[in-house]
Amino acid sequence: MNRLKRKFLDSLSGFYNEKEIRSLFFQSVQKVTGYSKSALLANPDFPFSGEQEKQLNIILAQLLTMEPVQYILGECEFYGLPFYVNPSVLIPRSETEELVEWILSDHSNRTGNLLDIGTGSGCIAVSVARLLKSFSVSAIDVSASALAVAKKNAERNGCQIQFMQTDILNPENSFEEIAFDVIVSNPPYIREQEKQQMSDNVLKYEPHLALFVPDNDPLVFYRSISVFGKKRLKENGKLYLEINEGLGEETVNLLSLLGYRDVVLRKDIFGKDRMIRATR
Ligand SMILES: C[S@@+](CC[C@H](N)C(=O)[O-])C[C@H]1O[C@@H](n2cnc3c(N)ncnc32)[C@H](O)[C@@H]1O
Repeated sequence: MNRLKRKFLDSLSGFYNEKEIRSLFFQSVQKVTGYSKSALLANPDFPFSGEQEKQLNIILAQLLTMEPVQYILGECEFYGLPFYVNPSVLIPRSETEELVEWILSDHSNRTGNLLDIGTGSGCIAVSVARLLKSFSVSAIDVSASALAVAKKNAERNGCQIQFMQTDILNPENSFEEIAFDVIVSNPPYIREQEKQQMSDNVLKYEPHLALFVPDNDPLVFYRSISVFGKKRLKENGKLYLEINEGLGEETVNLLSLLGYRDVVLRKDIFGKDRMIRATR
């Protein structure tokens, strides 16, 4: 085992720092052998079988191409829950956990219903369904392959969620009969012009459908979602949005112009304008 760990450290040192490589090693070993990090630390001479060593070498070769470990292993954690991921869904981010935290703290002990727009892996919808048990949760995405992953994640976490394939830019028929207490969305919000500052492992591997908006209309999703929310939220219903850190003021203005009240802009733990709550 020490030999393989050393191989991970030597091979990946140009790409990741030591702490990251150790974490990549332990995640890979857990996936291949089922042994947790603490079990391995307690038994550092755990012997790998030939087959396990082969699989770990394959994972190492994939890591060297900068493929994200979450896609290589096929899973990740979000809000303490396990999620399947593949390249048709965005890898859930910690900023989005903060958006979920905001919803949970505003709605603990309440009943209601929530729609997640652009659900991707289903990370927001599934976390809310698991942690606000008295809420009924629905979710939409334009991508059939993303919805397939979200459905598997709902099953994996024991949640009932209504899924529907819908284009939010043309949303006429989605859940027409329901008025929502909460609508949440982390829509695509990165401008094409921001691509130059992005790392290769995002640009090469994550779905561009989930990430990018045109430079000349970066709020296209926020406009559609807000107009949809005005029609489909209950009176006093809440809209929660993850946003582009460079477009906080513009997004707040859009919501105010459309007649939303109490528009609150919040920073993430990195101090960046990252989320908005607005009241219909
Ligand atoms: C930034 S990702 C967010 C995924 C997930 N909610 C999360 O927070 O990790 C945006 C999602 O919006 C979906 N999407 C893109 N265009 C859409 C459209 N026109 N209508 C509905 N969903 C769309 C993408 O497929 C993607 O899953």
